[in-house]
Amino acid sequence: MTARVRIVEVGPRDGLQNEKAILPAAQKIELIERLADAGLPAVEATSFVSPKWVPQLADAAEVFAGIRRKPGVAYPVLVPNLQGYERARAVGAEEVAVFTAASEAFNRKNINAGIDESIERFLPVLARARADGVKVRGYVSTVLGCPYQGDVPLADVVRVARRLHDLGCYEISLGDTIGIGTPAKARAMLEAVAAVVPMPALAVHFHDTRGQALANILACLEAGVQTVDSAVSGTGGCPYAPGASGNVATEDVVYMLEGMGHDTGVDLDALVATGRWLSSLLGRTSGSRVNLASKSA
Ligand code: HMG
Ligand code: MG
Repeated sequence: MTARVRIVEVGPRDGLQNEKAILPAAQKIELIERLADAGLPAVEATSFVSPKWVPQLADAAEVFAGIRRKPGVAYPVLVPNLQGYERARAVGAEEVAVFTAASEAFNRKNINAGIDESIERFLPVLARARADGVKVRGYVSTVLGCPYQGDVPLADVVRVARRLHDLGCYEISLGDTIGIGTPAKARAMLEAVAAVVPMPALAVHFHDTRGQALANILACLEAGVQTVDSAVSGTGGCPYAPGASGNVATEDVVYMLEGMGHDTGVDLDALVATGRWLSSLLGRTSGSRVNLASKSA
């Protein structure tokens, strides 16, 4: 068995934030609990952003407060500012994630702030988190291309990732928000960031818009990354990234990793059952090939 690869499940947050049908809080809670029970070590539960911007997750407090938390599992939540941090802490969140982008244009559309301005907003969040003993993850979006500005210089990705790490984010998740990257570019991007942020502090976050996500993950695993974000059933997408579709499906990532001899700690059958249940709630075909194959088996 080769090294353990840590999967950060983002389905309850990234997966649901762009859905037209809004699931009731009770079903969101059941989703989070089933994912943790399937063995996922980290389940991003929701996000404490402005409900005007993401109405699908307006019930963040109710959802988070309702989770039966499993010991040893992390339940990070997105916070864009101190207001979000305070809402998250009021219901007992112990890990938060701040998010910005390598593209100025995308950041303005997504969080109504430029890159430097967004990082300024994180400073009080990071200070409070340090004092409260709360872990902070950092996301950098549009690392391989932007829906508004097109190409994103590698130097911008490196600068933003380094800044978040220097400010105290324990892990930096590098997001291909619109699923535009291909393996050699993904690897080169990861290696450029790894020259300034240690590889164990990096994660990759691929959307599968063009069917490249698993290939990109494989290229990044070969370069040494040990943490991969994914969403059950391939749900996901950012409402402020036109054309972005689902994240790589967790079922497919687990199947590939286990097939390569990596230990993920995830029960694939339980995950497939959860993905099937979620797809039926959302009234759509699963975005996971492994799930579709096991359905017909
Ligand atoms: P703004 O309008 O500039 O904010 O939005 P503001 O500070 O002027 O506040 C406006 C209103 O929002 C006020 O209410 C605030 O109280 C309220 P009003 O006085 O009008 O009634 N407000 C809040 N309410 C609740 N919780 C909060 C909060 N903050 C302000 N935390 C803001 C700026 C950042 C708030 C907004 O742009 C926002 O919430 N954006 C979130 C967008 C989002 O969630 N996008 C998806 C997540 S990112 C992603 O998916 C990418 C990722 O997956 C990686 C990848 O794939 O690349 C992570
Ligand atoms: Mg995403």
